[in-house]
Amino acid sequence: MPIDLCRIIQLPKISDPRGNLTFVEGGKHISFDIKRIYYLYDVPGGAERGAHGHKELKQLIVAISGSFDVELDDGVMKKRFHLNNPSQGLLVSPMMWRDIKNFSSGSVCLVLASDYYDEMDYYRDYNQFVGDARRIPR
Ligand code: TYD
Repeated sequence: MPIDLCRIIQLPKISDPRGNLTFVEGGKHISFDIKRIYYLYDVPGGAERGAHGHKELKQLIVAISGSFDVELDDGVMKKRFHLNNPSQGLLVSPMMWRDIKNFSSGSVCLVLASDYYDEMDYYRDYNQFVGDARRIPR
């Protein structure tokens, strides 16, 4: 199933009494080159983000601070991931509907993305997404 390609990966972690350091190199720790980063922060309690899918975009989602849940849906199967570790990231394949919720206070959601922002790459309508996703041979 496409959703099985989405998984939490361990990133390099340099532990140090002065503070830990984690890094990500495009094409090395993740399969794609990083063209864009963005981050969600100051998320009010109870707010939900996401609620869309991407046609081509690949992403790595990291809870840089705090925690939140990412619910992925490939049109057939759903999986929920709890992110709360800045040395780990969730790989999200193309054609995944995602809902991001249950943000802890002060949490920051960092996203490394394979391409520039392009609204044409989005599915904003769930039914349209499911219709197209279910046409992909599995
Ligand atoms: P959106 O991707 O819907 O946010 P979420 O992470 O909650 O799914 O983007 C929200 C708004 O921000 C939307 O108007 C598009 C804009 N935006 C950009 O201009 N550039 C970007 O890189 C991103 C991610 C969003």
